[in-house]
Amino acid sequence: MSKLAERYGPWAVVTGASAGIGAEFARRVAERGINVVLIARRRNRLEELASTIEDMYRVEVRVAPADLTSRDIVEVLQPALANIEVGLLINCAGFGSTGPFLDMDPSVQESMINLHCRAPILLTHEIVQGMRERGRGGVIFVSSVNGFCASRGMANYNATKAYDLLFAEGLAGELRPYGVDVQALCPGGTISEFQGVAGLDTRNFGPLARLMFVTPTSVVVTSLRALGHRVTVIPGVLNKIAVLTMRLMPRRVSTWLFGVVMNRFAAGN
Ligand SMILES: NC(=O)c1ccc[n+]([C@@H]2O[C@H](COP(=O)([O-])OP(=O)(O)OC[C@H]3O[C@@H](n4cnc5c(N)ncnc54)[C@H](OP(=O)(O)O)[C@@H]3O)[C@@H](O)[C@H]2O)c1
Repeated sequence: MSKLAERYGPWAVVTGASAGIGAEFARRVAERGINVVLIARRRNRLEELASTIEDMYRVEVRVAPADLTSRDIVEVLQPALANIEVGLLINCAGFGSTGPFLDMDPSVQESMINLHCRAPILLTHEIVQGMRERGRGGVIFVSSVNGFCASRGMANYNATKAYDLLFAEGLAGELRPYGVDVQALCPGGTISEFQGVAGLDTRNFGPLARLMFVTPTSVVVTSLRALGHRVTVIPGVLNKIAVLTMRLMPRRVSTWLFGVVMNRFAAGN
């Protein structure tokens, strides 16, 4: 049995498992012998991943196609969570959007709050009760380096990621005495479908893209290695330097600078 399976137990729940970082989390926990519940909206993607994981790693997989912004999301997911011991919850589903807030569709921005903030806290409240009773477990909130700084053009996205970061850091202190590890994972640029959805064009990063963008694998390996050792995890040296620099600057300067950078990388510029 892998150390991860021994420490956390037989099942993991991964949201945002149909692509990018979430799909990689699902593969990497399955590789360590942990069964997985895969959650996202695209059923075909989840089924494809499930069959690959089952073939490669000989673990059990449950597929739970669902829109995590639904009001009754906990009830919708009940059948997928029935009769299993979940030891790892990975709240990864998310999307970005760029542009002036007042020009955006407010319902999309409301969905972002529901997806990044409401769904993770409801799933955590539902699933982590069992971990606390058993005295073991792990919860990962996928925040972002954007959670450390405000930005024009991504005002709501950065605010929701700050919520994830602060919620995870607060919860970590509450759950530590019960043997439950909480992590705020704060990736920087990671190659996935995220940029296309968010309206960011990686070509605008020029030669810097090679330095700034990492693979989902490196983010996930860093996260799983740090789980139980560090609460706030920033993968990559450049991202750590960027966060430290932002923290040292006056907030109005870092906010201005972040806005300049994000605007530069928005598609169409
Ligand atoms: N990539 C980056 O540069 C980067 C950097 C920092 C932080 N992050 C964070 O990392 C997380 C994962 O992003 P990623 O890079 O892996 O992006 P991605 O490749 O676009 O994957 C996003 C995942 O979220 C799911 N999702 C989106 N809306 C959903 C909804 N309403 N209900 C259920 N699932 C939903 C998508 O599945 P369906 O479309 O099938 O529903 C997909 O599985 C996000 O929270 C993001 O904010 C990403």
